[in-house]
Amino acid sequence: MQRPELINSFLSLFDQPRYLEIGVEKGLTFKEIKADWRVGVDPQPKFEDESFLGEDFEMFRIPSDKYFADHVEIGKPFDVAFIDGLHTAEQTLRDFTNVMSFTKNDAVVIIDDIRPANWCEALHLDLWLKVVPMTDGSYTGWTGDVFKLLYLIETFFPSIEMRISAEAPNQVICWKRTKSRLIEKPFASRLYEIATAQYPQFLLSKQNFTTSSLESIIGEYKQSCAEWAASGR
Ligand SMILES: C[S@@+](CC[C@H](N)C(=O)[O-])C[C@H]1O[C@@H](n2cnc3c(N)ncnc32)[C@H](O)[C@@H]1O
Repeated sequence: MQRPELINSFLSLFDQPRYLEIGVEKGLTFKEIKADWRVGVDPQPKFEDESFLGEDFEMFRIPSDKYFADHVEIGKPFDVAFIDGLHTAEQTLRDFTNVMSFTKNDAVVIIDDIRPANWCEALHLDLWLKVVPMTDGSYTGWTGDVFKLLYLIETFFPSIEMRISAEAPNQVICWKRTKSRLIEKPFASRLYEIATAQYPQFLLSKQNFTTSSLESIIGEYKQSCAEWAASGR
């Protein structure tokens, strides 16, 4: 399943949904998004003319940190956000916490690139820039160490639910729980384990992050929405 289809399947659950995308690049996902209002944030999108993106959107040509500091509209929280900006664990963590602050209780946050395909893709930016020119040219992708968000959310965000769908395993789908979950057997419980994790740790951790069908994930998400509605918060 392509990214727009995954994202639209959650947007379709909202009335007049508001959508945020961090990291827009060529607009391949952004232009396919069905929402009443879309906000895109990218310091260097790969287009000048925005007309192909349709209507009812605003594009901020700045880094996400600056967007959240100076431009986000506090009274207009997002329903669905897609985080696909700078692929470092540090920036993605900051994007994630910022997004959580500017979304509703029943919001869905989807993070891209949590599944590196090989050791080179999973390298942190500094190392990747040095190592890629030394390879035979077969390593083209770069997820960076965004996979560490799985460990960070699992261990340090107990009020966040996260699921990975079998149809779109490169993205993690998150939403806010009404109550925290118990942290039972996290893959990495210490900060240094997360900080130093590389591709082998990602492979070893895969069994902690199993996939399920998108249909069942949407069912769980709807149950959470019902709990939020019943809580009166
Ligand atoms: C993988 S591309 C995004 C692809 C797009 N979401 C899609 O689905 O077609 C990553 C983009 O993140 C942007 N980016 C890099 N640093 C960023 C930052 N600090 N804030 C927002 N976007 C950033 C890059 O300019 C690049 O265009």
